[in-house]
Amino acid sequence: MELITTYICKKFDIGVHENMFGGALMSLIDDAAGSYASQICDTPRMVTIKFDELVFKKPVKVGNIIKIYGRVIKFGISSVELYMEVRKHNVYTGEQEIVTHTNVKFVRIDEEGNAIPIPDRLKTRYERRLKEFGKGLLPAGEADGERQIETLI
Ligand SMILES: CC(C)(COP(=O)(O)OP(=O)(O)OC[C@H]1O[C@@H](n2cnc3c(N)ncnc32)[C@H](O)[C@@H]1OP(=O)(O)O)[C@@H](O)C(=O)NCCC(=O)NCCS
Repeated sequence: MELITTYICKKFDIGVHENMFGGALMSLIDDAAGSYASQICDTPRMVTIKFDELVFKKPVKVGNIIKIYGRVIKFGISSVELYMEVRKHNVYTGEQEIVTHTNVKFVRIDEEGNAIPIPDRLKTRYERRLKEFGKGLLPAGEADGERQIETLI
């Protein structure tokens, strides 16, 4: 699993019980998962098709730092399913508590909004990156290095 997003809970995220509003948290998860899916699949055209159950196990308060982690569970033909985990991060101890977790599925679409296949090359690239680098997203330098290797092969 890799870190995708870090966020500080603000006053405007709070609902009626002094806790972060569940809908705001869902939106953050969708954002993190969507951006991860887009980068893994090399396209901005990814749409959310399915959100699994979300159970909010711990409250998030103003000033809490939350970190959203994710990984690919499986690729389909046009879809990719991700496991997403939200953790509260204690800046003093580094300890983390799971706030919630869920699976989210995205579909790659074309200009008309129709589902289209995710190239096999990108699926194997993800597996290779996980094996070699321990993560699916790479900083520009590493990604460039990888591309050079890919073009040499
Ligand atoms: C995404 C969309 C184009 C797919 O259209 P569709 O007619 O369902 O397409 P398909 O039947 O070819 O299915 C496409 C993929 O979605 C998956 N899928 C479809 N319905 C599903 C469901 N109910 N649950 C889980 N997966 C589903 C299929 O398994 C398929 O995956 P695969 O190609 O990896 O096998 C269409 O449903 C859509 O536009 N949805 C709205 C998306 C949206 O607005 N999201 C919110 C904002 S991003």
